[in-house]
Amino acid sequence: MTDNPFKKCINPSCNLVYDIDNTTHTCKCGSFLDVVYPSSPSRELTEIFSIRRNPKGNIFNESGVWRFRELINFAGIDTEDFQQCSKVLVSMDGSEGRQSKPYKMSKVSEYANMDPECMFLQPEGYNPSGSFKDNGMTTAVTHAKMLKIYRLICASTGNTSASAAMYAANENMECEVFVPKGEIAPGKLGQAFQFGAQVVQIDGDFDDALSHSLKVANESGGYTVNSINPFRIEGQKTIIYRALEYLDWHPPDWIVYPGGALGNTSSCGKALMELVNWGWIKKVPRLLVINAIGANTFYELTNGLYDGRKLEWNDGKPDIELIRDYYYERDRKGIKAKTKATAIQIGKPANIVKALRAIEFTKGMVIEVSDEEMSDGMAVVGLNGFDCEMASGAVPAGIRKLRKEGVIRRDDIVIGILTGKQKDPNLSISYHMDSGNKFANPPMTK
Ligand code: F0G
Repeated sequence: MTDNPFKKCINPSCNLVYDIDNTTHTCKCGSFLDVVYPSSPSRELTEIFSIRRNPKGNIFNESGVWRFRELINFAGIDTEDFQQCSKVLVSMDGSEGRQSKPYKMSKVSEYANMDPECMFLQPEGYNPSGSFKDNGMTTAVTHAKMLKIYRLICASTGNTSASAAMYAANENMECEVFVPKGEIAPGKLGQAFQFGAQVVQIDGDFDDALSHSLKVANESGGYTVNSINPFRIEGQKTIIYRALEYLDWHPPDWIVYPGGALGNTSSCGKALMELVNWGWIKKVPRLLVINAIGANTFYELTNGLYDGRKLEWNDGKPDIELIRDYYYERDRKGIKAKTKATAIQIGKPANIVKALRAIEFTKGMVIEVSDEEMSDGMAVVGLNGFDCEMASGAVPAGIRKLRKEGVIRRDDIVIGILTGKQKDPNLSISYHMDSGNKFANPPMTK
């Protein structure tokens, strides 16, 4: 393990390392793994990234993920040759990350009471399968291909399964997706069927579906593409690269995500930690993670709302007992996550420990918003001609909330990630049919 990338336990008092040519996602010590690159990429690469925006027929330049390939180079690509790259890298014809960059949305900044010149939203729903997942799926499926494993497995609240099924279809792989029955948006379920995946409906929630899928992957030798897979996290770092590139690599004050399984939170933290280590950026933006009130594990634990004990990274020694106690109590009382934003209806966020590291590194915050606030957030994004789903509506809602509390300043530079496109039109329709809603646009009848 010299100049080659490797996997390393994130627990600083363990630090065990692993080769990358296997499907081990968790360390023997029980903690999680990072993909680690031994050398620091040169900042001059930013010029090359910019030149690649004129792709000249190369889909790996067109892709908003692979355009940054030197920063996620676990596949050891050292050529610009398209044919050579396509032997290793997986891509939906360069479409992942291609259309996502920060946009100003005047009606959203007005709603959030932000200076319209300072607030940006990045629509990751404009990915080929309609969510940010494609950023990390393209890298995870590349890793599966490197290992010659042609069967993808995941649990999902809908978008991961849509993305996995899409890449599997395009790469001629098999795909099995475990979803909580009746709890995923119809558009997402439809995609999984349409792309030929085997759908397994679980009589339980996402957390149950994840345990099932991990067990099946383990027993059958399938390749898990959930965000506990560190190669997913690698691809999702490019969400941050595109945002920073747009700002000429000047970090914003805040980066805002909805929080579900906390893969995005983890990838944002890792991207920023690496950029600081490489000397590419000095200032670290604060990460703001927004939970739905009905699925607020991360909010409750990090804010000390359970048993008065506050969950923190604590130099890599977070209070795991606290997480266990919290989950035990929830299970004992039969409490399940419940929100209309089913994408983030998750009670046991699998990446919680990596996410704590991200919050610590960025001096981040975790807050919660209601279903009503998320619906308003989704609707006001629509008024700017952009489309997002309810979970993404948490982003404008959360920014608005911290503006009201005076934590975010009006002229802070804020980048909010709109994680997915609307895949349950009935949510939009019922919102607009009810004239009591803040941004309702009810129909006329004649
Ligand atoms: N927004 C959308 C649209 C999502 O689909 C998800 C997660 C999140 C936010 C939360 O992101 O897990 O990185 O914190 N969806 C997963 C799925 C769980 O299965 O599609 P996270």
